[in-house]
Amino acid sequence: MFKCVKKENHYCNLVNGQWMTTENTIDIFSPSDNSLIGTIPQMSQDDVDKIIKYAKESQNSWSDVPVSKRSEILHKAATLLEENCDELSKVLMMEIGKDINSSISEVKRTADFIRFTADAGKNLEGETIAADTFPGFKKNKMSLVQRVPIGLVLAISPFNYPINLSASKIAPALVGGNSVILKPPTQGAVSALHLIRIFQEAGVPDGVINSVTGKSSEIGDYLVTNDNINFINFTGSTEVGKHIAKIAGMVPMIMELGGKDAAIVLKDADLDDTAREIVSGAYSYSGQRCTAIKRVLVTEDVADELSSKILEQVKKLTIGTPESGAKVTPLIDKKSADFVEELIQDALSKGAKLLYGNKREGNLLHPTLFDMVTSDMRIAWEEPFGPVLPIIRVKDKDEAIEIANKSQYGLQSSVFTRNINDAFYVANKLEVGAVQINNKSERGPDHFPFSGVKASGMGTQGIKYSIEAMTRLKSIVLTID
Ligand code: NAP
Ligand code: G3P
Repeated sequence: MFKCVKKENHYCNLVNGQWMTTENTIDIFSPSDNSLIGTIPQMSQDDVDKIIKYAKESQNSWSDVPVSKRSEILHKAATLLEENCDELSKVLMMEIGKDINSSISEVKRTADFIRFTADAGKNLEGETIAADTFPGFKKNKMSLVQRVPIGLVLAISPFNYPINLSASKIAPALVGGNSVILKPPTQGAVSALHLIRIFQEAGVPDGVINSVTGKSSEIGDYLVTNDNINFINFTGSTEVGKHIAKIAGMVPMIMELGGKDAAIVLKDADLDDTAREIVSGAYSYSGQRCTAIKRVLVTEDVADELSSKILEQVKKLTIGTPESGAKVTPLIDKKSADFVEELIQDALSKGAKLLYGNKREGNLLHPTLFDMVTSDMRIAWEEPFGPVLPIIRVKDKDEAIEIANKSQYGLQSSVFTRNINDAFYVANKLEVGAVQINNKSERGPDHFPFSGVKASGMGTQGIKYSIEAMTRLKSIVLTID
């Protein structure tokens, strides 16, 4: 575990190859046992100016580094990540309350992600286009089109995957020849700073990768509105994403935001398998996933059977501390737990049928399951980001599609049926980034395109798509007399 040379437990930011801290720091406590994990620097706007200057200056030389060398450095980072998996997964577990097995898989998945990106970066190809295919032009003119870096990428990641969703921005940006500033989530920053250290140790040159931590209220807007930022790659809440999109001005960006993924269950679905998928999709990491299943839309004729099968699975969920490997662990903070409890009480007050849960111990909310949820209840529409699942009964697949599309969100949906025609009928009508057939909604595998529409974001993540988004086409036109 690395620390700043100054004091035990003080983590630093990487700025132009140097680990720096600040007088004012932010204490990071574990959401599971409130133990002090360490402190992170509270950077100022002057610090931001310095970081941007170094990142800007270093980008040109980095883009001159052959892609094969950039790819080699990423492979080294992936190896280091795996070598440090034991330590990193424990930091993750303590810092964001993710159960130990999910923490280990986040680190391993990130190593795989970086490797795949390192190789995909070598396929950054351009093309040559002849002019004479267009009327009025002759063979003596052609365009040599190549992919070039976009410049300086600002990567902003969320608390629930501080390693994976930081690397999913950093690695494609680096292999594309960009320099990067990572703004990690405050609660998750210690984990993310370990990742930054790994990129440095792997050989990413000084200034090419930097990190900035601090109060978003002080440096957030300042960062995103800086004219030297050439791309913003953001993952987080719809509220913050929309705010950034509004103030950032003319800068390309990818926004991966909130979700209210629906699981649509038709009468001929395999209800045992469907119940297992739904419970895993809804309650993993206590529902703190953008792609969590956040509502079930089931046709009346199988609703009773499905809800009792879901209840059976919910009762099997382990509840407790992340160290114990429990699936349902304390939420990230009190504010989040309060919000989820608000949605639960609202549903109860409006007559939802409580099948399980509605129990809280501090930030630990027991898995909660409602049936007979109606559209006047907040839980039908709002993103809880917690272990609560509403079952909404519908007449048929068309009503399910109508309710699914009424959501402000459009990240993913699942449809469970044995009828392939119905599956595609529903999938083709859903306004989302992706539809899973007979599977829970999920982002992986990471080379698949991952995107949201409406309030769930814009642009597309996914290895090849991220590299393309953070590079641009440049033409050199040749006219030979
Ligand atoms: P969040 O509160 O929106 O924060 C996301 C990131 O934005 C954090 O690093 C945060 O820093 C930073 N931030 C906040 N205000 C900012 C500002 N004005 N300028 C620049 N950066 C700012 O989201 P979260 O609580 O970390 O994550 C939960 C939310 O993210 C949920 O809504 C979830 O659905 C969504 N999410 C979506 C995806 C996806 O792929 N679609 C994946 C994961 C999560 P601080 O921590 O310092 O505030
Ligand atoms: O909320 C994180 C989002 O990216 C979902 O990832 O792999 O849990 O579906 P995953």
